[in-house]
Amino acid sequence: TVNLPSIRGAVRAVGSYLQDQGLNLLINNAGISSHATLHSLDSQEMLSVFATNVVGPLQVVKEFLPLLEKAVKGTGKKGLSCSRAAIINVSTKLGSIGLCLGVSEAPTYPYRASKAAQNMVTRCMAAELQDKGILCMAIHPGWVKTDMGTEKAPLSVEQSVRGILTVLASLSQDNSGAFLDWE
Ligand SMILES: NC(=O)c1ccc[n+]([C@@H]2O[C@H](COP(=O)([O-])OP(=O)(O)OC[C@H]3O[C@@H](n4cnc5c(N)ncnc54)[C@H](OP(=O)(O)O)[C@@H]3O)[C@@H](O)[C@H]2O)c1
Repeated sequence: TVNLPSIRGAVRAVGSYLQDQGLNLLINNAGISSHATLHSLDSQEMLSVFATNVVGPLQVVKEFLPLLEKAVKGTGKKGLSCSRAAIINVSTKLGSIGLCLGVSEAPTYPYRASKAAQNMVTRCMAAELQDKGILCMAIHPGWVKTDMGTEKAPLSVEQSVRGILTVLASLSQDNSGAFLDWE
């Protein structure tokens, strides 16, 4: 399940830090992995990965929306950009139905299915929020040396984050609903 009081606590903390200003940029980064195969998976694992990777970020957006809307009005900017108001969902190419990278070697049902669902959530939000001045897109961070990515990953956190920040700074109207990578 999703911990709504915890999300609302975060909104209050951010709101009091910002005082009268809005929030320009919301990055949904938290996520969990699961290596379950068709043979090993059970419904509880499937549902708990969906709760964290899909429902959680959606509730976070819902609760932070008033602060993002405040930023749209406050910046005096037009169009869509991360310096006006944006929601960035950290996704993965493993959740792309179009690419289906290595799906036969690593089916990992809960992780890949939840990220595919998160990608659709990004598309739906982009369509709904673009007229309100809020940019929504998904980004693949690369394969990164974190607890999830492990030491075998080729990219350091610094390289991935530097790439992501460069991409975010370049985003415009044209990228509403897009799925880009760290490069
Ligand atoms: N690493 C990669 O190669 C790679 C590749 C593609 C995409 N991604 C995506 O990048 C994002 C970050 O992954 P990572 O590699 O940094 O993974 P990680 O090393 O496992 O870290 C995950 C982070 O998410 C937080 N988190 C997990 N469940 C949460 C929950 N229910 N509520 C709040 N926070 C929660 C964790 O907090 P705690 O430490 O407090 O548990 C931790 O800080 C994920 O969305 C992942 O799918 C990573």
